[in-house]
Amino acid sequence: MSEQPPSTLPVWDPLLRIFHWSLVLFYLIAYLTEDDFLALHVWAGYTVGLLIAFRLLWGLVGTRHARFSSFVTSPKTVLDYLRGMLRFRVPHYLGHNPAAAAMVVALLLSLAAVVFSGMTIIAAEGQGPLAGTWVAGLDAGWMEEIHEFLANLSLLLVFLHVGGVVFSSFVEGQNLPRAMLTGRKKYRNDYVDYTGDEK
Ligand code: HEM
Repeated sequence: MSEQPPSTLPVWDPLLRIFHWSLVLFYLIAYLTEDDFLALHVWAGYTVGLLIAFRLLWGLVGTRHARFSSFVTSPKTVLDYLRGMLRFRVPHYLGHNPAAAAMVVALLLSLAAVVFSGMTIIAAEGQGPLAGTWVAGLDAGWMEEIHEFLANLSLLLVFLHVGGVVFSSFVEGQNLPRAMLTGRKKYRNDYVDYTGDEK
């Protein structure tokens, strides 16, 4: 008798899920406290920085779908996938699809740049881990402009990211935010990156 397939498949490990929802929380705190609660803003920013550092490490040594090698792909594959999105005809992926993968990279880079630019501003005031380094000599006025620009860019990416998640949930017929909570996606045997070893 052939074995029944499972109804769901594991995809996001617990550390990745904790990373994701902590990032959402501390990103929001940092974004909403920029003017009025500077100490909280700075500590939320450091936490975002630590979370990104963890994610970079986990991208190298983490579980299968967390590893960069399993999802970072060529610009051509991303463009082909985006073209498919316009026609609502895209292959299904268990891990990040090529557009989501490009967005992960863009989000991590932009958030790292926001954190770094913020750290240079407080370094100019003699505070934070970068105080006393060459970045403390950068023009703080300029760095504030750059920091604000990058923060707004990251917000735009977040909106695109959430839009992409809604789109993919629709075309895949499943609730992807819930998958980021439970760690499991609906079973299908036509996931491009399905190996059959998933339980
Ligand atoms: C309520 C809002 C959000 C929802 C519902 C959401 C949902 C998701 C989902 C479903 C994925 C997996 C995407 C896939 O299937 O390939 C994901 C990944 C990701 N999201 Fe969000 N997200 C939200 C907000 C954010 C925010 C605010 C940030 C950054 C500040 C963010 C950063 C990321 C990153 C970096 C990943 C990649 C996960 C990894 O592999 O490390 N998300 N998100």
